[in-house]
Amino acid sequence: MGFSANVENDLPGINAEDYISRDFLDQEKRKLWPKVWQIACREEEIAHPGEFVTYDIGDDSIIVTRTKSGEILAYHNVCPHRGRRLASGCGKANQFRCSYHGWRFDLEGRNVYVQDPHDWGGELGEADIDLRRVRVGTWGGFVFIDMRAEGESLTDYLETVPDYLDPYEYEHMRYRWYLTLHLDCNWKVALEAFIENYHVATTHPQILPFVGDDYSQSYAQGKHAHFGFWETKTPLGYPSPRLKRQPPEDERVGVIDFFRTYEEQLKAMFSERDYKAAQGLMDVLPKGAPPGSAFFTAVELGRKAAEAEGIGYPEGATFEQMAKAGANWHIFPNCATLPWFDGALFYRARPDGDDPDKCVFDIWSLVRYAPGTEPPLERVVYTSMEGNSAGQILDQDIANMAEVQKGMKSRAFRRALVNPVQEMEIINFHHHLRRYLELE
Ligand code: FES
Ligand SMILES: [Fe+2]
Repeated sequence: MGFSANVENDLPGINAEDYISRDFLDQEKRKLWPKVWQIACREEEIAHPGEFVTYDIGDDSIIVTRTKSGEILAYHNVCPHRGRRLASGCGKANQFRCSYHGWRFDLEGRNVYVQDPHDWGGELGEADIDLRRVRVGTWGGFVFIDMRAEGESLTDYLETVPDYLDPYEYEHMRYRWYLTLHLDCNWKVALEAFIENYHVATTHPQILPFVGDDYSQSYAQGKHAHFGFWETKTPLGYPSPRLKRQPPEDERVGVIDFFRTYEEQLKAMFSERDYKAAQGLMDVLPKGAPPGSAFFTAVELGRKAAEAEGIGYPEGATFEQMAKAGANWHIFPNCATLPWFDGALFYRARPDGDDPDKCVFDIWSLVRYAPGTEPPLERVVYTSMEGNSAGQILDQDIANMAEVQKGMKSRAFRRALVNPVQEMEIINFHHHLRRYLELE
């Protein structure tokens, strides 16, 4: 019996080469990363003058900092003298001093010291010795950079993203935790594990008994895209219809199980406050209330708990707005987010050096905290998952990644067969990626 999943036909597909070849990675380096707005950090990481973050992408490194006047600026992290990188990681500085020959730059990127400048006979101009500026924009508390000297604004670049996601007030969220993983897969393999819901039933079976309907739909939004559960008829707290189980005897228990599982296994999207509030369901809602009411009531309990702490839920974030936005967004090219009233999960993927089989993957849990109650930022880095855990749900996702990367190199695998209903975010991603690379 013959079987081939990779015959030539019109089904949407993505070439395996796009994930595994060094040439494709090199094209991304030349034609993608220098031409897109991308998230370098969040504003709270550079809340005070002199605080800086270096953002490395491809062969480029960018310093993002806040000046004494409070402005956010970014410039290339390279000394104009002989090319030494000026800074690494994150920190706080009054000036950036090159460790090679001592040239110094202020927070505006202006050169303030050259050793023995007379040697150049007065020929050194500001344009020669100042750091090269990079464009900066902010949205939702994120600091974006764009290496193009001019071009579309961040607002134009984001297209419909703010229309759908502004109501969540990402700018009022803060890091609950910050995890950076070095993974053995292409950056797109890592990202794509988080821009479709098709994998959930198999990869995360533990959530099926109470997640409601896990069947998703997905749509392009320009070069960005989203998925949601616009056709669902099964409320959260119920078993997924895939399990073919009877409706639950007590829907409240399923809803509490949902919040507990996310708190124990992910610690993201929902806050600890949401979980504690959901436990109050048993007291405020009678057993046998109409289907769906347990989840809505749990959300209202979460809202009241947030209000009691002085932060509340975002005013514009209503159930109607949430239904419109859907559950998940891909922000082209390398970020994804799952927003909620009280927080959000955020992902950022990048290649790691010149190896198409490796990536650097950041996972950020963002939560609405009452001012002054946010935890101190601790950036945790795992250079390998060996002996480490990112929580059960993410561990399940990560377990697929290196195996996908290996599988894509099989001589029997030429292209990925992407689900046209549930994996449109991935289809749209590659369509626009290939346009940037001038392959389409
Ligand atoms: S390379 Fe920076 S001062 Fe020489
Ligand atoms: Fe997952």
